Amino acid sequence: MIRNILCIGAGYVGGPTMALIADRCPDVRLTVVDTNPDKIAQWNSERLPVFEPGLDAIVRRARGRNLFFAPITPQAIADADLIFICVNTPTKEYGEGAGMAADLQYWEKSTRTILAHARPGTIVVEKSTVPVRTAEAVSRILNLNPDGTKYQVLSNPEFLSEGTAIRDLAAPDRVLIGSERSVEGLAAAHELGWVYEHWVPKDRIVYTSVWSAELSKLAANALLAQRISSINAIAAVCERTDADVTEISRAIGMDPRIGGRFLDAGVGFGGSCFRKDILNLAYLCGEAGLGEVAQYWLSVVHMNDYRISRFVKGILDHLFNTVADKKLAIFGFSFKPETNDVRDAPAIRICTRLLQEQARLAISDPQALENARRALAGLPGQADERVAYEPDPYRAASDADAVVLVTQWPQFKALDYERIYASMKKPAFVFDGRNLLDHERLYGIGFNVVAIGKSPRLHF
Ligand SMILES: NC(=O)c1ccc[n+]([C@@H]2O[C@H](COP(=O)([O-])OP(=O)(O)OC[C@H]3O[C@@H](n4cnc5c(N)ncnc54)[C@H](O)[C@@H]3O)[C@@H](O)[C@H]2O)c1
Repeated sequence: MIRNILCIGAGYVGGPTMALIADRCPDVRLTVVDTNPDKIAQWNSERLPVFEPGLDAIVRRARGRNLFFAPITPQAIADADLIFICVNTPTKEYGEGAGMAADLQYWEKSTRTILAHARPGTIVVEKSTVPVRTAEAVSRILNLNPDGTKYQVLSNPEFLSEGTAIRDLAAPDRVLIGSERSVEGLAAAHELGWVYEHWVPKDRIVYTSVWSAELSKLAANALLAQRISSINAIAAVCERTDADVTEISRAIGMDPRIGGRFLDAGVGFGGSCFRKDILNLAYLCGEAGLGEVAQYWLSVVHMNDYRISRFVKGILDHLFNTVADKKLAIFGFSFKPETNDVRDAPAIRICTRLLQEQARLAISDPQALENARRALAGLPGQADERVAYEPDPYRAASDADAVVLVTQWPQFKALDYERIYASMKKPAFVFDGRNLLDHERLYGIGFNVVAIGKSPRLHF
């Protein structure tokens, strides 16, 4: 019976996931640990390190009751019946597989800590996204113990999407639990299943082999990213042919074989997962001698890079081939709305490129300004001095040559664009990198409007 759960890693996945489990399983005690003491202090404070709609309320309900954020101690590991590993698995930046493979150092360190202090029989669950057969490697490390006790290692990949994490966790499409096919493996899988059954219907809990669960996570992210790159490739064709990508998305999305989700053209995908997981998948394919398959998935990442550089090139072209000393208001920095996460956000590349062109930037974002400042710190050529971080979008746009919309926060749609137009230099431009705004209206106000996958609307 699972009474005590430990989670190693208090990040965007570990924190919200454990908070939701604590909320739905009052009979289970959850402790979330992290090597970063600042993060633990933040989780115990009024200002959580992760912004997610609905997260504050469930943390407040469960914290101190059956949810605890604490430093990692041998006792916390020894007390656990089940341990989730939710540490980061970024793209490796050194040595073999640099720029492609997943860096498993945090993973391996967690495993060794478990080995040193866990009780025999503790169930270990990989929630981090890892290469196929990682659970097998972990199992090998854990089962090296001299007393012969066998640990069961499960794969339980997380499919939450930042910005809607609490909704996704509360009503998941499916929960995937991969285990060894042995009696012990299946028993461990059903113990974890019992935790989810507190709020997830049984038919949504899917039991598979460990390898299928691991590969399902990589495959899901690769397919979602591929849809974005596909519609962005079509958007480039639209820009050359006067077709409109929004009309195309709608028309093709009505075909149930295609479906309408993840078909919005824009400045491309970002976040901590898509790029990293596709690179990881391509690396695995390469290692398995499947060069053609690796190239296929890499093209999804290349299309994303192309979309970002094409957007920046469009800004330069329309602003008369120079942005040097021009003020550009950047609307949105997080990689998507409703999160403060800026990891691999398209805004980082877009702003970096514009700063290389000597532009002055005023960045506005409802939640991500602190992280934006950190992400852009230390760029060469004293670029820092040309960036202002401005919570008020009206002040960001005042005296600017252009508004560059990068993240589709709904707040940006609700702004008074007549007021913005009046405060800007003329000719005033809007570059809508997410097709969020009402382009016809903006054009009527006097803006020149350049959007993704559409003909530009220009007054000259
Ligand atoms: N962010 C997402 O939307 C998402 C969705 C699904 C899956 N994932 C996967 O989940 C995993 C975690 O992602 P994240 O976004 O939460 O990462 P994160 O960087 O936000 O959090 C990871 C945390 O683990 C901590 N950590 C690292 N090594 C540790 C150790 N040895 N002991 C204790 N703590 C340690 C870090 O300090 C950090 O706070 C990754 O593998 C990611 O691919 C992420």
